[in-house]
Amino acid sequence: MCGIVGYTGSRQAYPVILKGLKRLEYRGYDSSGVALLKDGELNVYKKKGKVAELEESMIGNNIDAQIGIGHTRWATHGEPSDRNAHPHSSASGKLAMIHNGIIENYALIKQDLINKGYEFKSDTDTEVLLNFIEDIQQNNNSTLEEAVRIALKRVTGAYCILLIEQDNPDTIIAARKGSPLVIGIGKGEHFLASDASPIIEYTKEVVYVNDYELAIVKPDELILKNLGNEKITPYITKLDMELAAIEKGGYDHFMIKEIFEQPSTIFDCLRGRLDAKEGVIRMSGVDKHIDQLINANRIMILACGTSWHAGLIAEYIIEELCRIPVEVEYASEFRYRNPIVNKGDVIIAISQSGETADTLVALEKAKENGAFIFGVVNAVGSSIARISNAGAYTHAGPEIGVASTKAFTGQLAVLMMVALDIAKHKGTISDERYKSLLLELEEVPEKVNAILKNAEDIKKIAEKYKDASDFLFLGRGYNFPVALEGALKLKEISYIHAEGYPAAEMKHGPIALVDENLPVVFIATKDMYHEKIVSNMQEIKARKGKIISIVTEGDTVSPGLSNDFFAIPPADELIAPILTVIPLQLLSYYVGTAKGIDVDKPRNLAKSVTVE
Ligand code: AGP
Ligand code: GLU
Repeated sequence: MCGIVGYTGSRQAYPVILKGLKRLEYRGYDSSGVALLKDGELNVYKKKGKVAELEESMIGNNIDAQIGIGHTRWATHGEPSDRNAHPHSSASGKLAMIHNGIIENYALIKQDLINKGYEFKSDTDTEVLLNFIEDIQQNNNSTLEEAVRIALKRVTGAYCILLIEQDNPDTIIAARKGSPLVIGIGKGEHFLASDASPIIEYTKEVVYVNDYELAIVKPDELILKNLGNEKITPYITKLDMELAAIEKGGYDHFMIKEIFEQPSTIFDCLRGRLDAKEGVIRMSGVDKHIDQLINANRIMILACGTSWHAGLIAEYIIEELCRIPVEVEYASEFRYRNPIVNKGDVIIAISQSGETADTLVALEKAKENGAFIFGVVNAVGSSIARISNAGAYTHAGPEIGVASTKAFTGQLAVLMMVALDIAKHKGTISDERYKSLLLELEEVPEKVNAILKNAEDIKKIAEKYKDASDFLFLGRGYNFPVALEGALKLKEISYIHAEGYPAAEMKHGPIALVDENLPVVFIATKDMYHEKIVSNMQEIKARKGKIISIVTEGDTVSPGLSNDFFAIPPADELIAPILTVIPLQLLSYYVGTAKGIDVDKPRNLAKSVTVE
């Protein structure tokens, strides 16, 4: 994981890098550091902890430089510490490098270098790659660029690296495979970063560097080459992103800002695609490939975490509406087993970041086997978006809080439209049902708004239960994955142990956990399972568990069985998860903040998991 920033131009590099690192902190915050180069002097500063700690430790340091690189780390090799923080300096002290990813064959290379007399100052795989590059450079008497090229042909794993060199006053050498890199093109200056957020306030013209490409970046020159040393013409794209979208805009945390943005992000997702009055869905990604989709023998959904939960809901929806068999799999499992993928199978990849390594590698494998990939991705231009044969963006805008919220509801909205579009073309849905679901979908932003107006009620519930040591989340049918999502959210940002279960499964084990100290959250909206879930509530009540329920407005039965409840507007059961998840997002946010946790940067996590 980790975030990287580089700058070369006529501005002071340090403020640009520092600001950029703060924007990229969602990618990791175990340590951070910068390397600055001026008049042949290469200074490296680094610090364990968040970027703010680096900033504080920099007071009094010489920061005058027009070229530099910076890193915010999510540790893979070596504990979070000053020593293991990036940038790393080479053995001679002439090179400094930052790295995002994992060098898988680092141990072998390290042993070779140790045999040659190299000593290592850190436990990272990064320092190994750096000294390997320097060793090649010295032995072959080659330029840094050549040495990088030779080294990268011999490493396995994933990387995005940026290097600067003491004797090269204005050049950054960058390369990537598997970890993202964007280069912003200014007037007489260039910006490099893991995503566009550190770049947008300076320029909207960017180049997304591809795997196995190497960039030689000077203030007024950008040369892109492949590892075979052939030049590639950089493909410049215009960023469609505003600065305001990546700032907190008056909210205490990005997470709560993103929760409250949902009426508009869902609206943006539906806009131009859903026309309930006309009774049509227009999704070019679906329409252009409609034969492939309606004739799919099977759909496999690959994703991780919250996106995987969206996949579970999509499984129920697609099987119900399109009558195509669906399997949902953790991308990390799919990748390492021997799955059966046949021609004619469609893979739906779901990812907020579009950079999740487990998902990306699984897709590469599926593609090799001839599968057709449909991407449901939030980050425009990301690796998963690019590897997909077709797809639909969720249009939720940049999601910065580590806990995914608005991307999830965007995924559900997109997947619902995809299912409806396929079902319509396939003839597996009646006109009446199709129209009514379109109308319901159109009403979602308004209903989410209504739920958010009562956020304070959830805050009170959160304060009441914030000291519980465990939580159980239960739901049935379309709301079962919502229970999983509620539990994941709470674990992530409140550090409370939580489990999600299908409500009926509870009696096969988890019910043993129930006592008067256990809060049990039921998603008990009015649907075909309502009576069944009411029975499950009775079972918990009989064992003195504390019941918190999410119910449908007007329902009197479930509230009567609950210690606390929160009512949401009525909705078709296929649409309900987009609504029922909102109070659970709020619950985890308010519990996390009541416990004083930095909910945007919970411990051990990172937003974008670009390592396997
Ligand atoms: C969600 O709150 C998580 N932080 C995490 O599970 C996330 O959903 C997962 O890592 C997948 O990420 P992606 O959607 O960017 O691929
Ligand atoms: N593998 C490197 C390390 O552990 C880089 C990790 C990252 O991507 O932050 O330092």
